[in-house]
Order: sequence, then structure tokens, then C-alpha cells
Amino acid sequence: MALRNIFFEGNPILQKKCRKVEKFDKSLGILIDDMFETMKHSNGVGLAAPQVGILKRVAVINIGDGNIELVNPIIIAFSGEQREEEGCLSCPGQYGITLRPKFVKVKAQDRFGNEVFYTGQMLKARAFCHEIDHLDGILFKSHIIE
Ligand code: CO
Repeated sequence: MALRNIFFEGNPILQKKCRKVEKFDKSLGILIDDMFETMKHSNGVGLAAPQVGILKRVAVINIGDGNIELVNPIIIAFSGEQREEEGCLSCPGQYGITLRPKFVKVKAQDRFGNEVFYTGQMLKARAFCHEIDHLDGILFKSHIIE
């Protein structure tokens, strides 16, 4: 495993839409492992592939209860609202209160292409929304309400 460089706000790669993953090969597994290591090293709870310069629909999350890898994730259900403080490893030192759903259900694939489902509330729901936004070139700042 290896640490990857994190790209910061202002880099145009963070505003691009990522491609769907079609090949579930060894390099995908390496990318995911590197992303987990990079996220942990930076004390983050989530990281998306464009943040390490890769325009693929891949994200990782760990809010303290285990690693979650998301390949080609989509939000299939959401409900409620939350207003909590949010930040991003690509926007160091910047925080704001965002409006997000309170509960989120996500459908994705793992590194082998198996279909997986996750549900999250509060912080985990925010992480799912935040990281999936990155795959469409959207930063959390567009959700800041105060
Ligand atoms: Co982010």
C-alpha cells in the first residue's frame, strides 16, 4: 500500500465527472487500499478517487466503525434532514454547516464487482452524500447553508 497525494480545491480535476468502473482488476484493489491508507493518514472519514487524481467512481469511508469501499455508488433512498458541520480533505481548514439527508441508503459494488448495500444515518449519511458528490465534481461547499 502507498500514500497518494491529495488534490486541493482549485485543481480542475475536482470539478470533473468521474467514469463508471467497468474493470474490477488488481489495480482497482490497489487504488482502494491506497485510498484507505491515505484517508487514515489524513485523519479523514471519507475520500473519493478524484481527490487523488483518479477520475473513477470509487470512494472509501470509515467513520470509526469499519472500512466501507464504494465502487459505482448510487443513493437509492434518503429521508429526513440534518444540519451539521462538514469539511473536506481537499479544502483544509474550511468548514461549514451543510443541509443533508439524515438517512441514506446506497447501492454500490465492492472491488470484486459484487453488489453491496449500505445504510447510514447522521455522520455516515453525510459521508455517503459528500463522497458521491465528489464523483460528480461537486464539493461540499455547494451544500453550505450557514
Ligand atoms: Co471531500
